Amino acid sequence: MWRLLVVCLLLGTLEAVDRQNFKTCDQSGFCKRHRAVTSPTGYEVVQDSININDTGLYALLKNKDTTLKLTIVTLQDSTVRVLIDENEAALRKRYQPLEALVEREPKQQKVKKTKEEASVTKILTTDGNRVVLQHKPFRVDFYVKDKIVSSINAKETLHFEVFKKKVLLTDREKGFWEETWKDIKDTKPHGSSSVGVDIAFVGAKHVFGIPEHAESYSLRDTKAYEPYRLYNLDVFEYETNSPMALYGSIPYLVGVHQKRSVGALWLNAAETWVDIEPTTADKGRLTKEVLDADTKPRQVPQHNARFYSESGLIDIFITLGPQPNDIFRQLAALTGVTPLPPAFALGYHQSRWNYKDQKDVKEVHEGFVKNDIPLDVLWLDIEHTDTKAYFTFDKDNFAKPEEMIKDLSEQNRKLITIVDPHIKKDSKYYIYKEAKKNKYLVKDAKDAIYEGNCWPGDSTYIDFLNPNARKWWSDQFAFDKYKGTSKDVHIWNDMNEPSVFNGPEITMHKDAKHHGGFEHRDVHNVYGFHQHSSTFEGLKARSNNEVRPFVLSRSFFAGSQRTAAVWTGDNKADWAHLKQSIPMLLSLSTAGLPFVGADVGGFFGNPDEELLVRWYQAGAFQPFFRGHSHQDTKRREPWLFASNTTDAIRNAIKTRYAFIPYWYTLFYEHAKTGKPVMRPFWMEFIEDEPSWDEDRQWMVGNGLLVKPVLEEKAKELSIYLPGKRQVWYDWETHKARPSPGAVQIPAELNTIGLYHRGGTIIPKLSEVKLTTKENHEQPITLYIAVNQKGDFANGTIYLDDGESYSYEKGDYAYWGFTFKREHDYLHTITNKNLDKNGKFDSDVYIDKIVIRGAKFYPRNAHIFLDDFSPEDLDFEFNRENFVMEIANPGAFVTREFRIDLHS
Ligand code: NOJ
Repeated sequence: MWRLLVVCLLLGTLEAVDRQNFKTCDQSGFCKRHRAVTSPTGYEVVQDSININDTGLYALLKNKDTTLKLTIVTLQDSTVRVLIDENEAALRKRYQPLEALVEREPKQQKVKKTKEEASVTKILTTDGNRVVLQHKPFRVDFYVKDKIVSSINAKETLHFEVFKKKVLLTDREKGFWEETWKDIKDTKPHGSSSVGVDIAFVGAKHVFGIPEHAESYSLRDTKAYEPYRLYNLDVFEYETNSPMALYGSIPYLVGVHQKRSVGALWLNAAETWVDIEPTTADKGRLTKEVLDADTKPRQVPQHNARFYSESGLIDIFITLGPQPNDIFRQLAALTGVTPLPPAFALGYHQSRWNYKDQKDVKEVHEGFVKNDIPLDVLWLDIEHTDTKAYFTFDKDNFAKPEEMIKDLSEQNRKLITIVDPHIKKDSKYYIYKEAKKNKYLVKDAKDAIYEGNCWPGDSTYIDFLNPNARKWWSDQFAFDKYKGTSKDVHIWNDMNEPSVFNGPEITMHKDAKHHGGFEHRDVHNVYGFHQHSSTFEGLKARSNNEVRPFVLSRSFFAGSQRTAAVWTGDNKADWAHLKQSIPMLLSLSTAGLPFVGADVGGFFGNPDEELLVRWYQAGAFQPFFRGHSHQDTKRREPWLFASNTTDAIRNAIKTRYAFIPYWYTLFYEHAKTGKPVMRPFWMEFIEDEPSWDEDRQWMVGNGLLVKPVLEEKAKELSIYLPGKRQVWYDWETHKARPSPGAVQIPAELNTIGLYHRGGTIIPKLSEVKLTTKENHEQPITLYIAVNQKGDFANGTIYLDDGESYSYEKGDYAYWGFTFKREHDYLHTITNKNLDKNGKFDSDVYIDKIVIRGAKFYPRNAHIFLDDFSPEDLDFEFNRENFVMEIANPGAFVTREFRIDLHS
């Protein structure tokens, strides 16, 4: 069976995902057992076991067969941690993926007050929230001010399979001590150790998150269907609208409410399933605890989530918001942010499986230049290696990698090579030899080196759970080890779920063994995280921490954003996958991973020209922008089509480049605040409830709304303009529209629905050159979109050298722009240094200012570059659409100016 699969994969002849390769909940022993728990499991807090301390409490929980330890800790910034583990008698230690956290011990916060009553223990946190532990039955409630926002175990589904000694198997215990899937046995030498409980999001109209699934953005009711599965898997050409597991997992959910959104991180790296139940708030609780003055009892929505994990602990972090910005900051404090990427990574990436040889690379590179299409990076897939031995180049086709890389470098471009975690089993291959000698390879259940089949044929797998193996892996990227590479080579980590063609569900056997005595089942979802993290560290170290690395990973976990960008894997060249990419990327962004993209055009299949153009237009406004395709597809470099197609693609890519100053600023701000760059509507328009679950449109930052054409042969594009009493401007025509509202615009070949939000200012390049490097000092046009009242707009810009870490030492500039109505006859535009620690003085200047929604009649305009001498400015004013354009104001971005507009 697996041989057939391998052959299919190698030939690329799999037509679509074979669902049969992957388990349903019913076919997964622990998932089925947990889902079958429908009556209360009867846990209660053991009387007298409660021990209150400075930051929380500790207690024992007990039901008729099991005793567990409960710890509740209050953390800084309205975050509470609830941990449930076996008691001291546990036969084995459970894996806790603390590596996902920025700090293995998140900062605790002293509680303000605790109060013990007969049946409950109350904790008042320093942030003014309340945690209430109900003793019998066991339950934890979370209150923001006096409103209940979340509960753990309200449905009494806490189910904890403790390690036990093996006894004679009874029927009831089948699946507990071993399980067979498609003739592959999982030996489960320690039995099952699964855990699960319910978390309620009281008042939440929607829950979002738990990527990665090819599903709608708002998570749906799973009752009559399958739970969402989190188990990193290699799923070729996955189905759309499916809760099936894909390549990565972030066990984080957010329940959204107008006033009190709540997040929950389920810190567990084992296979996990999540049931979602939309409901209304518990009738018994429809008291002032849930209701706002303006809601009627019947209207209080609620979502219950039930998490089940195959092993590990119950370790839940509840972030109590209450506003969207708080939610993102609190998650970022736990799992981190994406550090500022090198600017080139925001440009366009051209990839293919595979560019055949150096000549091919050169021709593709020249093709971009000749056709006037911006490009920053060329990618090499697995065929560039010497017989799939990573860290090497094929001796014939890529005989002189230095030359190839130099050629790219000289034209300000980069190369990305693929480095997978499976290691060719070949006694002549240095990586294999060293890894084997050092015992850095994963072992099988019988303690022999684990072997599986992957691209090289017989393969072994680096044990990334071993810190020494990680360090060794990082070292392999040193220039003297990874021969032929330079600082302009960055890395792609693929197949790191890990993919094992002949393994159960195309991945590693669960009873395989890792460093520290853990089984693969315990650490599965964090395997790829460790690969891409150590790749990142290696790239940083090879340049003595001078150059910012770029790493793309297919597999990911909570915290992956700290060291990798991710893409949505093997999608298909059809309209459904183009549409699907949007909720997938929004879901990743919601879960704290902002640098995300989907293969433009679809990885597998041949997109027709219309689809390809539309995909480029969507991709141009998504964080990671790469064209990539399977080896069996037709070549699709942008110039291989009819000229109007090439023109439209060029146009989309150039539009992307023009907005890079804005993207770069957003990435900087993400690193400061945790806010994603590609944003769901609820984050910006919490007052506009109907817009929250939008999954055809999104925001880039807070100022730009994007709606690409997603329908074949569309004649019109309809766009929803969210918010209440706001104003939006069509990016091209400047025409103002109120919100909430909808507009229809003609869907021409070059149409991308773009609206500029009133009240914001966006910096954009006035003209683009063909690489981010050459654009680095290009002049800017400031687009000012005046707010609905006509008196204000603001925006920011971040600048630095675009590639090094010297910004950490103050070589950066972070400036703000403000448009303001001072009084009836005077409006001003000013800039201001927002961060005096930034010392970067750049020559970037503003060569044009466009004011949309200028509802005044300007008589003259002056600029003050110092305090005394105003200079006259030329401008044009269009009375019909209220647009004022100032040409060549002579203002530098990072030097103070004031422009007075007299009317
Ligand atoms: C699977 C990846 O998803 C795909 O992008 C890549 O081209 C192939 N592996 C070959 O490396």
